[in-house]
Amino acid sequence: HDHRLARIASSIRVIPDFPKPGIMFQDITTLLLDTKAFKDTIDMFVERYRDKNISVVAGVEARGFIFGPPIALAIGAKFVPLRKPKKLPGEVISEEYSLEYGTDKMEMHVGAVEAGERALVIDDLIATGGTLAAAIKLLERVGVEVVECACVIELPELKGRERLGDKPLFVLVSAV
Ligand code: PRP
Ligand code: MG
Repeated sequence: HDHRLARIASSIRVIPDFPKPGIMFQDITTLLLDTKAFKDTIDMFVERYRDKNISVVAGVEARGFIFGPPIALAIGAKFVPLRKPKKLPGEVISEEYSLEYGTDKMEMHVGAVEAGERALVIDDLIATGGTLAAAIKLLERVGVEVVECACVIELPELKGRERLGDKPLFVLVSAV
């Protein structure tokens, strides 16, 4: 596995001072250009989740929409988009969460999931953990069991993991 993780890690481009000074932006678009790294990324998630009885892969807009669907297809689960406000046309439930400045909302279609289903939440990256915490809350409010959250990259210095309580988080790469 190590050789796969090393290639995945080195395919992620780091862009300093984006979107503002002091931020080291972890750019996964270069991972997507490396066909082996991209395939290995999906394969490693699929290997972990294929026999876990997961019926829902919930992906967080926008970058969770890149990694979630191929995982859902491979493990035979449905894909449920968790979207930014006012994007979903049907009836939604929404969850507010805090950003560095201000708040944002995450929305999910009512009826996309049923109580008792088992979900995996996918995003590209965990920073403060606010986004994943909101995703967990949304799903749990409708009686879905969130089995685990999974990301390609973690920024451990921001301690986002602590914000998820005892919910397990699986990551491929830790950015230092
Ligand atoms: C980024 C990233 C995660 C989130 C992590 O998304 O893709 O979704 O931030 O941050 P947190 O752990 O501090 O909540 P962003 O909101 O920038 O939008 P995008 O995915 O639509 O580009
Ligand atoms: Mg995002």
